[in-house]
Amino acid sequence: MASQLSPIPRTAPFAEEEIEILNRVVGSANPLQRAWLAGFLAGLDAQTGHARPEPAAPPRTAEPITIVFASESGNSERLAADLAKLARKRGLKPSVVDMADLEVASLPAAKRLVVIAATWGEGDPPARAASAYAALMGETAPRLDGVEFAVLALGDTAYAEFCAVGKAIDARLEALGGKRVAARADLDLDFAEPAARWIEGAVTALAPKADAASAASGGQVIEVDFGAAAEPNLGPFEAEVTAHVDLNSSRSDKETIHLELTFDGKVPAYNPGDSLDLYAHNDPAYVGALLQAAGLAADAVLRDELIAGRDVTTLSLKTVETYAASTGHQYVKALLESGEARDWIAGRQLIDLIAHFPIAISAEQLRALTRPLAPRAYSIASSRREVGEEAHLLVSAVRYQSHGRDRTGVASGYVAERLKKGARVRVKLRPNKHFALPSPERDIIMVGPGTGIAPFRAFVQERRAVGATGKSWLFFGDRNFTHDFLYQLEWQDALNDGALTRMDVAFSRDQPEKIYVQDRLWERRRELVEWLDKGAYFYVCGDAKAMAKDVRATLVRAYADVKALAPDAAERAVVELERGKRYLQDTY
Ligand SMILES: Cc1cc2nc3c(=O)[nH]c(=O)nc-3n(C[C@H](O)[C@H](O)[C@H](O)COP(=O)(O)OP(=O)(O)OC[C@H]3O[C@@H](n4cnc5c(N)ncnc54)[C@H](O)[C@@H]3O)c2cc1C
Ligand SMILES: Cc1cc2nc3c(=O)[nH]c(=O)nc-3n(C[C@H](O)[C@H](O)[C@H](O)COP(=O)(O)O)c2cc1C
Repeated sequence: MASQLSPIPRTAPFAEEEIEILNRVVGSANPLQRAWLAGFLAGLDAQTGHARPEPAAPPRTAEPITIVFASESGNSERLAADLAKLARKRGLKPSVVDMADLEVASLPAAKRLVVIAATWGEGDPPARAASAYAALMGETAPRLDGVEFAVLALGDTAYAEFCAVGKAIDARLEALGGKRVAARADLDLDFAEPAARWIEGAVTALAPKADAASAASGGQVIEVDFGAAAEPNLGPFEAEVTAHVDLNSSRSDKETIHLELTFDGKVPAYNPGDSLDLYAHNDPAYVGALLQAAGLAADAVLRDELIAGRDVTTLSLKTVETYAASTGHQYVKALLESGEARDWIAGRQLIDLIAHFPIAISAEQLRALTRPLAPRAYSIASSRREVGEEAHLLVSAVRYQSHGRDRTGVASGYVAERLKKGARVRVKLRPNKHFALPSPERDIIMVGPGTGIAPFRAFVQERRAVGATGKSWLFFGDRNFTHDFLYQLEWQDALNDGALTRMDVAFSRDQPEKIYVQDRLWERRRELVEWLDKGAYFYVCGDAKAMAKDVRATLVRAYADVKALAPDAAERAVVELERGKRYLQDTY
């Protein structure tokens, strides 16, 4: 009987189709057939003169390469894995290091170094990588003379500080004496193809040059990675919306949609802490107005293309430069030359540029002003153990006014306004092993104001389903108790059935002075530190700009106060938690 085994790893130096064919043959072969095949191949090489009858030189050991990634949502981490795979094929011995675990003092020992770094917040490193990043930038960073390096920067041109972290690391490695062997690339959200090209170039630049002796001996070392795990199917998957509920009351000034998705085939194999990337469509009304402003209202083909797949809202400096170059618009050129463009684009969108500086443009010129529409991530708010073949999301509608226009977030607006019950949507699984539950007997503390609560609904469901014995403590906050208490009844049930041990809430607008989750953490600092001393895991999800920073600062203050520590000792206590992977964040 043919077995389903796939003994040839995906890292083998063959094309994907060849690996499939080899697996089909070798996977179903019996031991006798395999032994024959091994002997046959060895004999074949000997006969054709490709193999040496006796080894004259000892096999060359693979040269090491260190690949450091600084990642929040996994893109840099995945690219680091791709780079490692290629490096292995080229005879290098890669070690992949999360910057969160990096000992900066060990860097001089790396002969070859690649750093793949994303930028977060407003030009900040990913949260996990923050302390190693500070050490690398700090005065005590070691010299890196003799280290060959290359840096790949990931970012988003919509942010003013585009790829700031990758740029800073690249400059720092050089300043410390490292030798840049491949030019840095600064990549936008559509990074897949340019990243693959950069990886190819960087590995080629870093791979040891085949010397005459090793070429003669055919001495390239090929590492066989028997441990390479099969990659999970991330999708995209087609889903149907089976529930669409606004969890805020009709008198709230917020709109937070609880969305239930079912899948035609099998539900993606998600775990608590993972997110789904949702592929939204643009608002047809916005696209209509944009085409009108551009004088292209009659182009129905362009309209459909823009709605389904182009980023028609982001306005970056790059967009303004492209507009100036392709239209020659004098005022736009002047805006750039005066250095005022950076301030002018703040709070504005592509439509403002075209409406404010009108000029006849072609469909091609408009297309060139846009990039592919990137999916948006949403934390999964359910556990498969409780909801079976479904996945739930919690989406807060982004609505604001700026420069005299009402604005709506692309994806959250799509979910709130157009993705109603029965509609279909494409999603992709975005696993996050850095925000996973510990074993069920461990205690957990969860801090999740606003939509930050979403993954903790999944955590609580999961812990109920597995009968976790560890305690769980939830901090939630929003504006008003009456109008914005997301999943209120579910938390009451969880407190009653023991899935949740305790809950503290902070409703910022229910009293004259603002109260936030970090204020509740401070009030409960003694018990908090006690839980942490007993090994509890601390999770933070939600707003990265203010909340996550305040929560961390509050925890440092709590340690200082409860344990009578100096500020730097209290900071070290929190760094210890982070290094021990007990302070985990998923913030955005
Ligand atoms: C790992 C991860 C998990 C996430 N989980 C969730 C979740 O569970 N629930 C959730 O709702 N979101 C979540 N998000 C955020 C989500 O991905 C989107 O960023 C969010 O929904 C906004 O997307 P949008 O397309 O609606 O808005 P966009 O069209 O992308 O517009 C957002 C942009 O509008 C601008 N803007 C917004 N408000 C204002 C303002 N008041 N004034 C001026 N400009 C403003 C800002 O430039 C902002 O970047 C998560 C993000 C990540 C990375
Ligand atoms: C909340 C948030 C803030 C971001 N801030 C920046 C930024 O300041 N500069 C930038 O270039 N990119 C920024 N990005 C884009 C990320 O760098 C980009 O999505 C990158 O691919 C993420 O890589 P990672 O998955 O390895 O973390 C931001 C993304 C998010 C979601």
